[in-house]
Amino acid sequence: MLDVQNLTKRYDDTIALTDVDFTAAPGEFVAVVGPSGCGKSTLLRVLAGLEPDFDGRVTVNDTPVDDGGSADVGVVFQDPRLLPWATVRENVRLAAPDDASDAEIDDLLERVGLEGFETALPGELSGGMAQRVALARGLAYEPEALLLDEPFSALDALTKVEQQAFLLEVWHSVEATVVLVTHDVEEAAYLADRVVVLGSQPGTVVDRIDVDVERPRERTDERLLDVRERITTALGL
Ligand SMILES: Nc1ncnc2c1ncn2[C@@H]1O[C@H](COP(=O)(O)OP(=O)(O)O)[C@@H](O)[C@H]1O
Ligand SMILES: [Mg+2]
Repeated sequence: MLDVQNLTKRYDDTIALTDVDFTAAPGEFVAVVGPSGCGKSTLLRVLAGLEPDFDGRVTVNDTPVDDGGSADVGVVFQDPRLLPWATVRENVRLAAPDDASDAEIDDLLERVGLEGFETALPGELSGGMAQRVALARGLAYEPEALLLDEPFSALDALTKVEQQAFLLEVWHSVEATVVLVTHDVEEAAYLADRVVVLGSQPGTVVDRIDVDVERPRERTDERLLDVRERITTALGL
């Protein structure tokens, strides 16, 4: 469903990504893990159609991404980017199709566990809840693929674990392809079907790892520890 071939992305004299090949199959959960500055956000922005100027071939459902991106793809950024003066419902509506009804918006909010908070303001929400509003926004066009850029990195450890469980639930219920970008090795191994490891300087793929561990998973599963070790080895840590 998502296909990246030979992607190279330059910003003036910085080469953010070099020769990146990446795929995500329908319904697959892929984590992209790598250190800060290795080009993770750049890869996600290219997939979302927000960076039209690159070398290589990038397609979503066999259609090349161009400026503005595909309605088949929803994006959740690290910072929830909510308007502070607008209610939760209005914040979601701004990201939804023009003809979306209140009932449809509230349905999305229910799906992300925010029933009862439709008229709350962002300032009244916890960090985890604000991130779930961002998730509802990302789901508003019923995308086939959901791209998430370090959505949990600003959350405390316990909230992060809750939100990870939540993301898995949403992934199961909407049956979308998920690409999660993270610098958290444990998170990548625990959540993904497949981990793509990006190294830095140059930003390129240094390993691809299948996580053949059935769900629900135990975080202490030996096989997950092996995946984590393989990631850190690939990164030279
Ligand atoms: N808009 C931009 N202009 C110039 N350089 C950029 C821009 N965005 C990212 N970069 C550079 O590209 C590299 C990759 O950045 P980024 O994709 O944000 O990495 P990551 O998300 O893995 O931390 C970094 O060296 C960063 O400084
Ligand atoms: Mg980033």
